[in-house]
Amino acid sequence: MAGRQGAILPLMPPKSPKSLRPRLLAWYDANARDLPWRIRPQARAAGARADPYRVWLSEVMLQQTTVPHAIPYFLDFIRRWPRVGDLAAAADGEVMAAWAGLGYYARARNLLACARSVAAQGGVFPSDESGLRALPGLGPYTAAAVAAIAFDRPANVVDGNVERVMARLFAVDAPLPDAKPELKRLAATLVGEERSGDWAQALMDLGAMVCRPKAPLCDRCPLARSCAAQAEGAPETYPRRGVKLRRPHRHGVVWLATQGDLVALERRPPKGLLGGMLALPTSDWRAEPWTNAQAMAAAPAQAEWRAAGEVDHGFTHFTLTLRVYRAEAALAHAIWTPRAGLDALPSVFLKAARAGLDRLI
Ligand code: ADE
Repeated sequence: MAGRQGAILPLMPPKSPKSLRPRLLAWYDANARDLPWRIRPQARAAGARADPYRVWLSEVMLQQTTVPHAIPYFLDFIRRWPRVGDLAAAADGEVMAAWAGLGYYARARNLLACARSVAAQGGVFPSDESGLRALPGLGPYTAAAVAAIAFDRPANVVDGNVERVMARLFAVDAPLPDAKPELKRLAATLVGEERSGDWAQALMDLGAMVCRPKAPLCDRCPLARSCAAQAEGAPETYPRRGVKLRRPHRHGVVWLATQGDLVALERRPPKGLLGGMLALPTSDWRAEPWTNAQAMAAAPAQAEWRAAGEVDHGFTHFTLTLRVYRAEAALAHAIWTPRAGLDALPSVFLKAARAGLDRLI
């Protein structure tokens, strides 16, 4: 044995898709998560089919956030707008308010445009990727996911979870994001004609539950013996990452004007960040912090403004510190909203409103 000590194990190339697919699908049959938009594999095998509207809605939400965060939003949307035609007929403001907290509000606007386009075509979603891609705001990921999950088409569905699984299975050394096309190509080698919807969801569940970003549970992984990263001994080091550029930091001021229980809100212009969403009146968001005097000069009305806290928020492309000023003040043109209605605010403003209202002044 001594002579073998320290021998480097040959890296096992992943087993052929023929052996990987049944192993992962069998794992999925036993371990699939119960999700409100999902048809479980046993029900699928018995002929049940997912509702394309639910699949599409869930996928748009899940591009935005995690499964646990998305579930209450999904259930709320389905309760209020059970069919695509109901969503298409909804008022923009109501849908934007229901989306508040999911972030990236352009997606909510695209969601409505897409629902209206499907409703105009008789409420039926196209069943293949190219038909789905033709819908407004529906990108390649969503088209592949809906084609696979709702229509069992052999589409290559690659989200962050699947990228991580591929990076490990094949020990892809190129860092993200450059490795994306290679990871997608590798995922495509595993796509098959059978159980396409289950396959897509099995990979996602494996990524979420077993092939986790920081602490993968390789001893529970049905693919472990085919996994090149596991054979190397440090699967958590995949996917490799390029140097992260720091997001720039910005500073802004918000004015929390109250009249008793009511808070003054405004609607943001339709285009741009948080476009069309309700908001607290706010200054520009800029690189330099605002002095007290600058903030007072920019206030939307004369009032006894008092500093009432600061909140930090991360957007995709920058981070933000907002200083909150609060006063009992009569703002013209405000949308006066009871405190109980502040849930319709995007997270950044909800945070600021909560911070300011919690402060006794
Ligand atoms: N993440 C994105 N889409 C998903 C889905 N359909 N099931 C589980 N996790 C997901």
